[in-house]
Amino acid sequence: KKYVLDLKVSSVERVNARNVLIKLTDEKPLPEMLPGQFVEVRVDGSPSTFLRRPISINFVDKERNELWLLVATVGEGTHTLARLREGDVLNCVLPLGNTFAPLTSPSERVLLVGGGVGVAPLLYFGKQIKEAGGSPVFLLGARTEADLAEVSLFEKYGKVCITTEDGSVGEKGFVTNHSVLSTERFDRISTCGPKPMMMAVARYAHQASIPCEASLENMMACGVGACLCCVEKTTEGNLCVCTEGPVFDTRRLMW
Ligand code: FES
Repeated sequence: KKYVLDLKVSSVERVNARNVLIKLTDEKPLPEMLPGQFVEVRVDGSPSTFLRRPISINFVDKERNELWLLVATVGEGTHTLARLREGDVLNCVLPLGNTFAPLTSPSERVLLVGGGVGVAPLLYFGKQIKEAGGSPVFLLGARTEADLAEVSLFEKYGKVCITTEDGSVGEKGFVTNHSVLSTERFDRISTCGPKPMMMAVARYAHQASIPCEASLENMMACGVGACLCCVEKTTEGNLCVCTEGPVFDTRRLMW
């Protein structure tokens, strides 16, 4: 079931030069939301941003009844979101899309690979894995230290490995070069981030015979399967990322 809710902004924090963290709350308990799902927010205030924007669920804080959205300020719509203030209202459709595959047993070793703002849904997923008795490993990639977000929060739920392209923190290079891939064994991988990074992760996973799922960030407008702007070619034909995804087994993708 989907809900259309006017959520109240409880805070907006700048987490780094590019990203803001928007925390939303409601008088009533928020609906059940699962890791991997997303929200379509309505950006008010400017004629060219009447469409809803899809934003992945970064975290749900049940005790505080808060939904967290980590937003990269890349265009007019997202800059408008970054200007929200405490007490403002954000109209949201939620929860949308499918979910990351939940842990099947506490011994299952799951690697969560994120890049850029694509790290967002992995925080909530990592919490779910830890609560199910697992120990997720996060592998987070960024251009430079200043682009990383929420590292101390990820550390609450599992081991954190970092790569930066300039070597300012963690290992220098790309996520697929990190030493953890050769020193530890993983049963499966979930990834979210820029497409070239996810494609490289999927290639690594296939070569190592590790099941892999990716959360796609295709352009989305309607979010409900009506406009077809989010279509992805798959082994089963063209599928809407907004209704069939956003999470896909990478073997189904034509990468
Ligand atoms: Fe319109 Fe997916 S966003 S069909």
